[in-house]
Amino acid sequence: MKTLVIVSHPTPDQSRTIKALEQLAARLPNVSVRNIESLYGSDLNGFDVAAEHQAVEAADRVVFLFPIHWFNLTPMLKAYLNQVWSYGWAFGPNGEALKGKEMLVVVSAGATEFTYSAEGLIHSTIDEVLTPMKASALYVGMDYLEPLAFYSAMGVSEATLDQFRLAFAGRLTQPTESSAQL
Ligand SMILES: Cc1cc2nc3c(=O)[nH]c(=O)nc-3n(C[C@H](O)[C@H](O)[C@H](O)COP(=O)(O)O)c2cc1C
Repeated sequence: MKTLVIVSHPTPDQSRTIKALEQLAARLPNVSVRNIESLYGSDLNGFDVAAEHQAVEAADRVVFLFPIHWFNLTPMLKAYLNQVWSYGWAFGPNGEALKGKEMLVVVSAGATEFTYSAEGLIHSTIDEVLTPMKASALYVGMDYLEPLAFYSAMGVSEATLDQFRLAFAGRLTQPTESSAQL
């Protein structure tokens, strides 16, 4: 079971949560990490598409790790999907490279868990906010796993970060859904 973690954060110097989770992922066995801003800066068209394809092809599970900014993906993550999930590779004729792989979305969010509820300010759950990722996963034949969200993730204490690390490591080391059913 090989896991690829694609990390994106537009301002890494200001990141605590995503950075802590990225560093943890890099230490786990059978997990490889690609930070797209470290690799390509903020160049929306600068992706080494062949290298990105190779990294995904070698993985059984693809994890996207990023902060929620304006209830959305980061600009580089959106650009990654636009550039890397190409016609003829991810979809279209013979485009089955992602089929059968798992997608796990892991996000940090500054707002509270209550804000992300039907009764909360935005009248939307995190699952609803992440609908584009779910739709993209299903469109290319991936198994979309239940997302993992870390709420109230601004100015977090080291103790809270430890709880985040524990939950994240638990999900990253979980067997595939299909193998769990065997
Ligand atoms: C430009 C910007 C927009 C943000 N928009 C949201 C948002 O829409 N919803 C939310 O819950 N938090 C929002 N936040 C808070 C971030 O999600 C939070 O600071 C981040 O997830 C914490 O992780 P980090 O320490 O790795 O940056 C925003 C932060 C910034 C800087």
